[in-house]
Amino acid sequence: MIDTANALKLLGDETRLRILRLVAREPLNVSELTSILGLAQSGISRHLGLLRKTGLLEERREGVWSYYQVSSASSIPALAEGDGSPMAPAGAGGAVPERGGDTADPEILEVWNFVKSRFGSLGDPNHDLVRLAEVLRQRENYGGGLNEKLLEPGQSWFAWSRALHFLLPSLKAIDLGCGDGAITVEIGRFARSVVGIDANPRAIQAARRRAEREHLDNVIFKEDRIESLAEPDGEYDLAVFSQSLHHVADVEGGLAQAVRVLRPGGRLILVDLAPHRERWVIEKLGHVHLGFAPERLEALLKGAGLEGVQLEQVHQRRGEAFTVIVASGLAPGG
Ligand SMILES: C[S@@+](CC[C@H](N)C(=O)[O-])C[C@H]1O[C@@H](n2cnc3c(N)ncnc32)[C@H](O)[C@@H]1O
Repeated sequence: MIDTANALKLLGDETRLRILRLVAREPLNVSELTSILGLAQSGISRHLGLLRKTGLLEERREGVWSYYQVSSASSIPALAEGDGSPMAPAGAGGAVPERGGDTADPEILEVWNFVKSRFGSLGDPNHDLVRLAEVLRQRENYGGGLNEKLLEPGQSWFAWSRALHFLLPSLKAIDLGCGDGAITVEIGRFARSVVGIDANPRAIQAARRRAEREHLDNVIFKEDRIESLAEPDGEYDLAVFSQSLHHVADVEGGLAQAVRVLRPGGRLILVDLAPHRERWVIEKLGHVHLGFAPERLEALLKGAGLEGVQLEQVHQRRGEAFTVIVASGLAPGG
């Protein structure tokens, strides 16, 4: 049997508790859990494996994803001590014994029922619930739409993002604050070439691996700081800030560098956040600015010398913590 000590040990782990609290609200896949918890996917998979072995979690396949949820058997009332239920022998050294995955162990259930009753008074110290709301919004916007429900062969939205490149000229682009290169490689599919810039060496490594996997040889990555860019003047047709300007303390300096490396008439495209109150992003995600008001952003872009500045605030749905703002302008002299 899983004795009480092992049951407490299993559910006494902070990460496992955070996972359980989340999947008790909504079935989630590993990628969504990784994004909410901000921890390595390998660690999260290990915790999910342990919880699944006890029968407390179950896995449900949907399309290409496995969703984890608290097992339907986990809400049965806790069994009384010494009720004579058949139990498997405890694993060596307190390891969690395997249950075959369909029924949860009574000791685990008893501890789980207690833990669950405490969730309401915990608050949200790690901001997991705010991140959950954001992930669910993204799922609704990008993953859980009509196409996915119908399992439409080809997934038109993704195909369209590729198809649009037929409309675009062959550009020399720079992606400022490229992170792990997800957007950079998409730019690389239509651009003549693209340079991804990021100050974080780990992000640059991940981005290089991504470009290699995609066999894109027109995409390169450089470790550099946006405010002190070592790129020549007038080199690029397109400069992109995708969710990166709010990380840059010297916004004016960052924008001035982007304008400097654009050729006359070259275009700057910016995707960022409108003002918000989610202060946790400062510590957890390294944001420096809590979004930008459209008027401020417009003044910043014009102040950097851009012409024909256009801005659009993307419609916010009820309950969303973040509103996206998109902007564009042309380098002077075109
Ligand atoms: C939220 S990520 C955005 C990644 C990517 N552009 C995207 O849209 O998915 C912001 C990135 O900006 C980088 N960054 C922040 N400040 C920077 C700076 N001063 N110079 C260069 N990169 C910076 C961070 O390292 C991080 O990878």
